[in-house]
Amino acid sequence: MKEINLTTKIRVYPLAECTETEKKLIEAAKNATFNAYAPYSGFKVGAAVLLDNGEIIVGNNQENAAYPSGLCAERTVVFFANANFPNEKVEMIAIAAYYNGAFTKEVVGPCGACRQVLLEVENRFRSPMKVLMYSDEAVYIVDSIKDLLPLSFGEEMLK
Ligand code: THU
Repeated sequence: MKEINLTTKIRVYPLAECTETEKKLIEAAKNATFNAYAPYSGFKVGAAVLLDNGEIIVGNNQENAAYPSGLCAERTVVFFANANFPNEKVEMIAIAAYYNGAFTKEVVGPCGACRQVLLEVENRFRSPMKVLMYSDEAVYIVDSIKDLLPLSFGEEMLK
């Protein structure tokens, strides 16, 4: 028997130590939570992406009475970005969540399905996407979505 140990390095920053660009993107994600359509869970997620051309695009979760028909903030924002700016690589994504009258004390990691979609975006543009996960206490940063999705299934398997 052999064992493989996978490790993920996550950098943890106080917001004040983030770069100006990161702070701006986090602010955009936080603001986007307020336009979330989350009447069923009350859990409002905002996501903001920075494109190669400097543009910031925001999205949020969009729920539905038929629950699985809704969509998470992360997929909403990257699908919009790719639909409208198909040639602009996505450099960074920031994620924040607002629940019970406050921004969450714990970071919100993207769900499994969103990780898979974000991986596709990275692969599509052949460039790592930095992921900034905001909480009221700290910001978790990884330099690539691959850090959050080890042993992933991607396009290379289909060649
Ligand atoms: N949600 C997101 O938008 N992103 C995440 O990363 C986690 C969960 C949404 C889906 C649903 O509308 C609500 O949060 C509660 O799960």
